[in-house]
Amino acid sequence: MWKPRIAAVQPAPASSFDRQLKLDGARVVALGDCAVCHTAKGGKPFAGGLPLATPFGTIYATNITSDPGIGAWSLDAFTRALRRGISRDGHQLYPTFPYIHFTRMSDHEVSAAYAYLMSRDPVKATTPDNKLIFPLNFRPLVAFWKVMFLRPGERAADPAQSVEWNRGRLLVDDLGHCAACHSPLNMIGDEKSRRAFDGGLLDGWDAPPLNQLSNAVKPWTKEQLVTYLCTGRASEHGAAASPMLPVTRDLATVPQEDVEAIGTYILSLQHATSPVMEATAATATPDATTASAQRGAILFNGSCASCHGSGSPMQTIGTRPTLAFSTAVNAQTPRNTIQIMIGGAWHGEDTMNYMSPSAMYSVTTSLPILRPTCAPPIQSVLSGRPSTKA
Ligand code: HEC
Ligand code: HEC
Ligand code: HEC
Repeated sequence: MWKPRIAAVQPAPASSFDRQLKLDGARVVALGDCAVCHTAKGGKPFAGGLPLATPFGTIYATNITSDPGIGAWSLDAFTRALRRGISRDGHQLYPTFPYIHFTRMSDHEVSAAYAYLMSRDPVKATTPDNKLIFPLNFRPLVAFWKVMFLRPGERAADPAQSVEWNRGRLLVDDLGHCAACHSPLNMIGDEKSRRAFDGGLLDGWDAPPLNQLSNAVKPWTKEQLVTYLCTGRASEHGAAASPMLPVTRDLATVPQEDVEAIGTYILSLQHATSPVMEATAATATPDATTASAQRGAILFNGSCASCHGSGSPMQTIGTRPTLAFSTAVNAQTPRNTIQIMIGGAWHGEDTMNYMSPSAMYSVTTSLPILRPTCAPPIQSVLSGRPSTKA
């Protein structure tokens, strides 16, 4: 439960690291989304402080710049953290830090990430204390969790598959830790490995299944998938607005061949049929005559159709797809659709592609009568907890 402390070292000057190694490190750090978790909202890159919600409370990502952060960490200490989830002073690290995936990173990837992080600007920042429920606030317990779930060791290539597929598997299953969001969790917060990519729930968003892309209303092509992964948008499909958006921002900075490899591997995981979607199609017959569907149609025409209605400039000039193809709209829960209405969507390039976050606000305030019936179920849908009312 306790591991030995690894001695502190003097931080090596940034100039002491090989230039190519630092460049490789930038790619590793982007593929591993290190900045996504280790940067607080509006904070300095890698300085930590971002609260991460878990079913057991809030865990804060730490400062991984060199002041004090990981400044006194040797490469050995850094490697042990990424592969075994142990901090330099020997304390257990919570698996919110996805070392269960990073454990398979190659020696070169680990030392490249180290060189890159050690040559960033040091930022003085202390990490707030975690707010975890008993008994999980007792770190040594993580050791038991690891016995069950941590499987260290480099992954052997599958000789029956192409080099690109094997690279894709490394980027998706290991460094890219896509399953951390896209798989269901078990009771103690571990990804159900046999159900990897069946879809997950995080921060009030559904991360859709990644093994059903061929069963979408418009089956995803490789080209659309690659475009989505590095721009956050694809023709015939919606746009990322969730915690997936920063992932796509990172993937935009890595060489195209990495994203192509991810696309090849993901498309090889597709299930031939989708029991879920077939069941939904059989039961979900939209009935335009119900009172709530009629009210929805009125609200949609007033608040949404100027952009999402057929023949709108967004569809004709902006060539964005109809909502009928959207994963969010076709999903089993309305969670992501509600999130988008509340939070809006903007991809930054042009105002044609802007959805104001107040779309929902204007709906609820212009029709105050909706507010009391609307709000509580929305909260429960987003949190994933069953509503007592709905
Ligand atoms: C999903 C969010 C997430 C991602 C992605 C992530 N980390 Fe972390 N990391 C954390 C959290 C949370 C902690 C703190 C865990 C704890 O306190 O037990 C942490 C801790 C660490 C530590 C230990 C620091 C210390 O003081 O003990 C290191 C080193 C680290 N991360 C490096 C990285 C690197 C390198 C990457 C990218 C390859 C990365 N992290 C990606 C969430 C993340
Ligand atoms: C000012 C234009 C505008 C208005 C008004 C608007 N949206 Fe959007 N909406 C967008 C844009 C832009 C996107 C990003 C999608 C894209 O680029 O394909 C988007 C995305 C979405 C998505 C996600 C699609 C997906 O699959 O990712 C949903 C769902 C959605 N809007 C629903 C609504 C609803 C419901 C309303 C009315 C309450 C509404 N929108 C009002 C512009 C708008
Ligand atoms: C931090 C959590 C997180 C991580 C990590 C993550 N995703 Fe996602 N992903 C999401 C969420 C949430 C959505 C829902 C999309 C939205 O509306 O923004 C999504 C959407 C997607 C979609 C669109 C699926 C559809 O049917 O519309 C694809 C494809 C995808 N992710 C692939 C990946 C890949 C590949 C990786 C690893 C490189 C990855 N994701 C890592 C959370 C994540």
